[in-house]
Amino acid sequence: MNTEAEIREIFGHLKNLMMAHKEAGMEPPPVSKEMLGYMEREVSEGSAYPGQSDHPDSLEGLREFIGDCRRCKLHKSRKKLVFGEGSPRARLVFVGEGPGREEDLAGKPFVGEAGELLTRIVEKGMGLTREDVYICNVVKCRPPGNRDPERDEIEACLPFLKQQISIIQPEVICTLGRISSQELLLRDIKITRERGEWGSFMDIPVMPTLHPAYIVRNPSRERELKGQVWEDVKKIMEHLDLEVKKNG
Ligand code: URA
Repeated sequence: MNTEAEIREIFGHLKNLMMAHKEAGMEPPPVSKEMLGYMEREVSEGSAYPGQSDHPDSLEGLREFIGDCRRCKLHKSRKKLVFGEGSPRARLVFVGEGPGREEDLAGKPFVGEAGELLTRIVEKGMGLTREDVYICNVVKCRPPGNRDPERDEIEACLPFLKQQISIIQPEVICTLGRISSQELLLRDIKITRERGEWGSFMDIPVMPTLHPAYIVRNPSRERELKGQVWEDVKKIMEHLDLEVKKNG
């Protein structure tokens, strides 16, 4: 990347940070008017993020826009960027944390063991297919060793999730686990306590539930945890007017 592109990218990050503060109703970090004007000018030619000068209005366009992303350090160790998959007209979007090992190799979200459980929830529980919904993550590249994504990585990637959601305009978002629930609901979350309570992101109802990997990691509590996820999934189905079968 040349210096000019790097500067533009830094301004892009700064501007996104300012916008995130504004959206969260927080005071933005103090930046002079001159600096703001400068950032607007720099970012508007060849923006590092959508929603500024470029507006990819399709998922394909957004994927192209993201390109061979190097906006954060996760690019160094990833094999494949995992953009997300499913219907661009999905009524329901699932948001996980970030790709794991299998997803990094396949370039597709939720294809490992946790993914198989999510697929069963969608197919057997909800009576839908993976193609009916949309599945994506907060960060699009695998954090090494499956660690939690770090702040700078989330900040770099969140604009793309926002753009995916604004393109799809789902009726419900289901956040899987603590990380995606915190990022969308803009507060610290204890997921085992706060799952099942409706929140909202970009004016879209959000249902936080347990991450399927948490169930996979706790086989002795499988029945109990699956029951909790089913309670949350039923709320989503009722919201979407989908028929809830008795035996789940
Ligand atoms: N866990 C996630 O959060 N996302 C995936 O895509 C796979 C596992």
